[in-house]
Amino acid sequence: MAGVTVLCAVRGAAETDVVLALGAPGSGATVTRRCGDVAELLAAAAAGAGGVALVSGDLPGLDREAVGRLHAAGVRVVALSDDAAPAARLHALGVDAVVERYDEALLLAAVRDVATTTASVAGASDHLVLGRGGQDLDDPLGPEDALGLEDAVADDAVPRRGSVVAVWGPVGGPGRTTTTLEVAAALGGMSRGRRRHGRARREAATSAPESVLVVDADTYGASVAARLGLLDDAPGLAAVARAAAHGSLDLPTLARHSPVVGGRLRVLTGITRAARWPELPASAVEVVLERARELADWTVVDCGPLLEADELLMYDTHAPQRNGATLAALQAADVVVVVGAADPVGIQRLVRGLEDLREVPVPVAAERVVVANRVRSSAVGSRPEAAVRDALARYAGVDDVHLVPDDAAGLDGALLAGRTLAEEAPGSPVTVAFEGLAQRVRATVATLLPAEV
Ligand SMILES: Nc1ncnc2c1ncn2[C@@H]1O[C@H](COP(=O)(O)OP(=O)(O)O)[C@@H](O)[C@H]1O
Ligand SMILES: [Mg+2]
Repeated sequence: MAGVTVLCAVRGAAETDVVLALGAPGSGATVTRRCGDVAELLAAAAAGAGGVALVSGDLPGLDREAVGRLHAAGVRVVALSDDAAPAARLHALGVDAVVERYDEALLLAAVRDVATTTASVAGASDHLVLGRGGQDLDDPLGPEDALGLEDAVADDAVPRRGSVVAVWGPVGGPGRTTTTLEVAAALGGMSRGRRRHGRARREAATSAPESVLVVDADTYGASVAARLGLLDDAPGLAAVARAAAHGSLDLPTLARHSPVVGGRLRVLTGITRAARWPELPASAVEVVLERARELADWTVVDCGPLLEADELLMYDTHAPQRNGATLAALQAADVVVVVGAADPVGIQRLVRGLEDLREVPVPVAAERVVVANRVRSSAVGSRPEAAVRDALARYAGVDDVHLVPDDAAGLDGALLAGRTLAEEAPGSPVTVAFEGLAQRVRATVATLLPAEV
């Protein structure tokens, strides 16, 4: 039997022991490369030199991206944990198995086990933990770590499982950020109690306020912080993405970087300089959004306008992609809200955008809710609602577009005040339209959930 081929990147004195153990007759394994660092390991993996990587948990540069690249090369990863690299952190990096204390038999068992299980997506693997009686360490955040986090973390045993809404739209400022903020405000019930009558009041009375996290993932023109008058320009999303890349993003860290604004919303601000986009790799944003589900009932992501992956870089899985954050949000989303401007140019871009969305380089399973924003007769003639509906039905096959009217004065006022329109002008027809959109998002997500028991 040829056995399992192992790329060994173990530091310190243990290296010799490990290589000897793996090389012993009957081990079922062969060390095909001894790598001094992550770069060497990745090169060996890319060259197809081995099927399993055995790494020290504290190997410099071993992050989620590196583990993702090993997986992409078809290499499973076994990590040796120690005090500097506890098992929980290693699992958060997406490794396939962790050996918690050095023991020849455990090590060989782990290497053989991962080699025979089928490769899975980083982060979603069935983790193996050896050396602690198979104790499940999947969740690095023990309940006690969460305490003291006021309202951010409910202290019930079952982790919250919030929903993710991605708000996307083509170039041209159709209103992605406005939609993100107003849908978030509506989901959080922020205009509640200010203006209520009829159906809106009944709806408000039946739905309890929920926690909402806004994430600014627009790598071309982040604007959520500026819209909400947040002066501190440290991008929260970049900070938590960094933690995610290193496997250390826990709930308190996420909460710390997402301040509460306007009473109810938490905000993870975006990168203030477009040139900083490499700080938001898809592999890290994916983890942030997964964690966000534990922090908030709703995570609403403001996406950038472009969807393509750089073809030239596609062959180098490590090269960061400028649209990676947006693609990660679309892939994670339970609902994708697609926003277009309700004028002749905007509608045309929306029609093309819906086509582009069908061809994105990542699987997007979420249902789309299409929005035409700033519907007004000055742009499309008399009976603008009918005109917009007809155009979208005819050219995009969308027969249930959600219409949002135009209220430039209202939105300017909200911008000036650094608040959402929901707070600033709860009676604006635009606020009412976004509340309707939020209801639709809720209803869409409700159809995805298993019936409550
Ligand atoms: N329904 C609306 N009525 C009036 N103005 C709007 C409306 N929606 C958005 N705007 C304005 O259009 C501009 C662009 O909106 P924004 O949400 O920033 O677009 P994007 O995020 O797609 O670039 C902003 O000045 C915003 O206030
Ligand atoms: Mg924007």
